[in-house]
This record gives sequence, C-alpha cells and structure tokens, in this order.
Amino acid sequence: MSPTHRPPVEARVYAPADGEASDVELMPAGDVTEGVVRIGGTIRRPHQRQSRAVAEYLDWLEDAGFEGSPRFLGRDDEGRDVLTFVPGRCAAAVPEEWVQSEELLASVGRLVRRLHGASAGFVPRAHPFPPHPVPRRADRHDAAELVCHLDVTPQNVVVRDGRAAGLVDFDLAGPSTALRDSYNTAMHWVPLCDPADAWPGWEGLDPYRRLRIFADAYGWDREERRRLPGLGVDAGTLTHERMRHNAVALGGGWARMWDEGVGGLILRRRRWLQANAERLLDALLA
Ligand SMILES: Nc1ncnc2c1ncn2[C@@H]1O[C@H](COP(=O)(O)OP(=O)(O)OP(=O)(O)O)[C@@H](O)[C@H]1O
Ligand SMILES: [Mg+2]
Repeated sequence: MSPTHRPPVEARVYAPADGEASDVELMPAGDVTEGVVRIGGTIRRPHQRQSRAVAEYLDWLEDAGFEGSPRFLGRDDEGRDVLTFVPGRCAAAVPEEWVQSEELLASVGRLVRRLHGASAGFVPRAHPFPPHPVPRRADRHDAAELVCHLDVTPQNVVVRDGRAAGLVDFDLAGPSTALRDSYNTAMHWVPLCDPADAWPGWEGLDPYRRLRIFADAYGWDREERRRLPGLGVDAGTLTHERMRHNAVALGGGWARMWDEGVGGLILRRRRWLQANAERLLDALLA
C-alpha cells in the first residue's frame, strides 16, 4: 500500500482476498501471544494494547525503505491485526543446528543495524507506546533515543538463503537505545548465558568468537564495546524485575515462564557476564 493511499492505522480495515479464508495455518507458538495464524499471504495476531503504536512504527519502516519488516494491513472482521507474511524460515523454540551458522549470525548483526538506521527519527505521535509498568533505573544516563525491536530472538528472525532477511513479532518494540537492542540481539544469538543454560546442541559454541563476529557485523565502536559487559549486567537486573512483575500482573505465558525458572536463568547469565567480563572485553577489543 503506498503511503499516500494508506488510511490512519486506527481506521485501516483489512479486505480479504478471494478464497483466502479456506487456508488457515497455525504458526509455531511463542511464549506469550496465543493464536497467531497464517492465512494466505497474511499473518493474523490478536490485537493488543501496543498494536497501534507498532502499526505506526511498521508504516514508518515501510516509508524508510526497510524491507525486513511485515506491513500492517489493518484489522480483520474478527478484530485481529493483519500483517504481511514474510517468506522464509524462523527457528523453532529450541533452535535447530542450521541456526548456529556464523554467516547467519553476522547477517543478523547487519539486519539490526539497518533496522536502527531506518528507525532513526521515528516518534510515535498518534499512538504512543504504552509505558512500561517497571521503569528502567539501571542506566539512567542513557535516555531512550530510538524506537527499536527489542526481541530479536532466533524465533523472530526470518531467514532466506542462510541469511537474516526479516524481523517479525514487534510486540516488545518501543523506545530504547541502539546499543541496548543490539546487545539484546547478541545475547539471544551468541548466545550470552551460563553454559549450563545453553539450548540442547548449542553447548559447544564459542561465545567469545561469536560475540566478536556479531560486534564486527553490527559495527559497535570501541566505546560501545567497552560498555557491553556492564550494560548486560544492568539489563539482567531490569529484565529480572520486569519478568517478575509481568508474571504477577499479566499471568498467562509470563507466569508460565517464571514458574519454569526464567528468573534463575537471568541471574545465572548476570553472574556469568560478571565472571567473564574481562574475557568478553578481550574478545571485543583485541
Ligand atoms: N509476519 C510474519 N511473517 C512470517 N512469519 C511470521 C510472521 N509473524 C509471525 N510469524 C511466524 O509465527 C511465529 C509466531 O509468531 P510471533 O513471533 O509473532 O508470535 P509469538 O512468538 O507467539 O509471540 P510472543 O513472542 O509475543 O509470545 C514466528 O516465530 C514466526 O515463525
Ligand atoms: Mg515470537
């Protein structure tokens, strides 16, 4: 849809293509959102409190020429958000061996860098992102500068020909900083965690080598590299608080993740980052 012919997000109604509804495919479930389905060339997701802010952001990315995000097409007759299906392959809950490819890792770094370039200047005006009930304290000196994705996990990256081609699931998008979003991406993709918490089949990977590959592909400068282990520790503190809050306040998938021990995993990651900060810095700066 060209920008000039696009109604405002709150007024956008999706008109189905002929014969489309006969072809409904359930998408692999994530942790929180239930009932994501594919119908023809579209994805339908339950409408959420952040949906309009996200839709405005997706419009912005389209206008900025970013090819890697779905387009918001409107809401269907069941009130669901309708997005374009981004063709390709996403990782399963336990990411498969092909997801370990270093070429893929580097391409994720480059894709997130392009996302940040395309996001620059976006300020949601008509529909602000809902404020988070647990505000950020850990890094006050680092005010929000950029709306970005904030959940670039292997399950939310669409891969084509072995390279990251798209991002889906903008549920956690909102104002943050490029450094936090790119650190969070590296955390998921390297991954940065206590080796005891690695996904099955991922235990043998070298996190120092992989972090360096990501760092070079994304393009962190020396100052950003120096800040990373500390920023990761602070992020762990905040994430722990937020997950605990969401488990109590929102229940559902948040409570399930908490009961399954995600809090312990976050604390073990923090300890691992602290214990290995010097080695991580060596790998980043050497
Ligand atoms: N626009 C899209 N194009 C292609 N595939 C998509 C798209 N949106 C979702 N998918 C596929 O459906 C899966 C689940 O969708 P999504 O990530 O949006 O929800 P979720 O992970 O269940 O949500 P949450 O992370 O909030 O629990 C994704 O991992 C991906 O495989
Ligand atoms: Mg997801």
